[in-house]
Amino acid sequence: MCGIVGYTGKHSVTDQLLDSLELLEYRGYDSAGLATLNGDTGKVKLRKCAGRVSDLRKLCQNDKKLSTCGIGHTRWATHGGVSDENAHPHRIGDVLLVHNGIIENYEELIDHFMLHKELKSQTDTEVVAAVLNRFYQGDPHDAIRKTVKYLKGTFALVILFVDHPDVIYAIRNVSPIVAAYNENGTMLASDVVALGATADRYMVIPEYVITELHKSEIKLFDWKGEPCEAQFMEIDWDTTRDGKGNYPFYMEKEIMEQPEVIKATMEERIIDGRIDLSVDGIPDNILKECERVCVVACGTAMHAGLVAQAFIQSKLQMHMSVEYASEFMYSDPVIDEKTLVLAISQSGETIDTLEALKYARKKGAKSIAVINVKGSSIARESDYVMYTSAGPEIAVASTKAYTTQLIALFLLIGRMAKVRGAFDELDEKKYLENLVQTPDKMQEVLEQKEAIHKIARDMLDAKDAFMIGRGLDYSILLEGALKLKEVSYIHTEAYASGELKHGTIALITENTPVVAVVTQSRLKDKELSNIREVQSRGASVVLMVKESFELSDAEYADIFLLPAMADEFMVFPASAALQLLAYYVSMDKGLDVDKPRNLAKVVTVE
Ligand code: AGP
Repeated sequence: MCGIVGYTGKHSVTDQLLDSLELLEYRGYDSAGLATLNGDTGKVKLRKCAGRVSDLRKLCQNDKKLSTCGIGHTRWATHGGVSDENAHPHRIGDVLLVHNGIIENYEELIDHFMLHKELKSQTDTEVVAAVLNRFYQGDPHDAIRKTVKYLKGTFALVILFVDHPDVIYAIRNVSPIVAAYNENGTMLASDVVALGATADRYMVIPEYVITELHKSEIKLFDWKGEPCEAQFMEIDWDTTRDGKGNYPFYMEKEIMEQPEVIKATMEERIIDGRIDLSVDGIPDNILKECERVCVVACGTAMHAGLVAQAFIQSKLQMHMSVEYASEFMYSDPVIDEKTLVLAISQSGETIDTLEALKYARKKGAKSIAVINVKGSSIARESDYVMYTSAGPEIAVASTKAYTTQLIALFLLIGRMAKVRGAFDELDEKKYLENLVQTPDKMQEVLEQKEAIHKIARDMLDAKDAFMIGRGLDYSILLEGALKLKEVSYIHTEAYASGELKHGTIALITENTPVVAVVTQSRLKDKELSNIREVQSRGASVVLMVKESFELSDAEYADIFLLPAMADEFMVFPASAALQLLAYYVSMDKGLDVDKPRNLAKVVTVE
């Protein structure tokens, strides 16, 4: 996935493009570029380089900033390595193009149009620019339509035609583009967060609608060339970012924000001591009539689904599956009108999750999305949406989005249990008594961050690590392992501790770091004996254990006591401890905690 911006208006655009690209770097940050078009002279300026937007800013610093129309791009490499040549924009003849998506048939297009000699990069995007230029005879709409007919895959194309200064053209299929205007001009971007400071209303460019951004208006044309209306929406949430505050990295700031944002996600859904989802408009019959629940999500969002699964099966005695969204539709899942699909996504733009949701809905499933970004593609695709109140999550490693997803899921499950008769008044009261403790219990862990920092210091040189637990502890550790590996690059594997002895324990040697989480009363004894199995083979075990559990006198490299809650709520304190562990290992290794190598915050390619 990549970040795209475009501006055309009264003022010089270079700095606006750079500032907006910086806000989109979470979508990809291995190279960046921009192109400006001077309406008076027709002069094109193209600047692009491998590296961050800050490197691009340096490249532009001595340019005369006279152009008032331009496009920009920050890249997460899909086709072609990280290089100046492969950075966007790509120019072929009179066409300048930036693109987010994947053109699956780009190699066929190279052969079909015999483009080999024209291409300088290894990207699919340059192929599209070449085809556009091939068809361009002075009419941008004609060239765009003829080109798009050949494209297979997902795309957000933002185009400048050199002899049409001041106008930016755009067309999309699946990959997102939003647009807005103000008194200074019109702008577009991959995500509202890049528009937030300049506009208070925005529109989503509809698929296969050719959009023209002029200096003072936005024009839309349907596939037949007929003008069509733009549907504007309010930007009614805070898209601006108040920076890192006093924290060195966004990840730490976002970990520390969790008690507050969990409260915010909860408070609008607990009214007079009862779970009330009217703010989400979810009718009870949806929760009452479904016969099975299926989660489609990726990464951390999928791990939130696993925690919910443990809950739904135990509380509701109902079958629930949790599917990797990227695998879902290829596994021929059993989905029908009695299925309730939960699409969980922080960004609401993860294409694997979006496509899985579309597939399930086509099969008749009802859908509820748990989303952090309002108006996002998955939110728009779903029958109902529960918005979390995590606020903008900037660090690539998801933390506060995960725990607020859990809160939303716990509330949804609680309501489901009530309407299906699995909860009586007393059950709901006890359930909520635990749920409302989560912010304080997490806060207790966050206040002991230095104890976790000390544990982290002993892991800095590890190349491999294991995280072991059973039941809900295992689901918690799948997320803990993802956190550690994605920000510290230590190859970390979460393992059901009872399964270790069936092969993987062969990897345990002297001082192999093992993090064990023990929070489930009925599994504690078995988990402790599994821990002894790895200790007897030399493992160095860090134990994270519910503080109320009695422990034998076994030797541990370290013990961290987790504030006690009812077993099924222990995911909250345990996650806070595991997030801090990953954060401190990464920070003490001197890595870029917020932007780990090879990653991006939003994955809008399949
Ligand atoms: C989380 O730390 C990762 N960055 C990644 O797994 C992420 O959770 C996943 O890509 C899903 O993103 P989404 O929640 O925006 O759909």
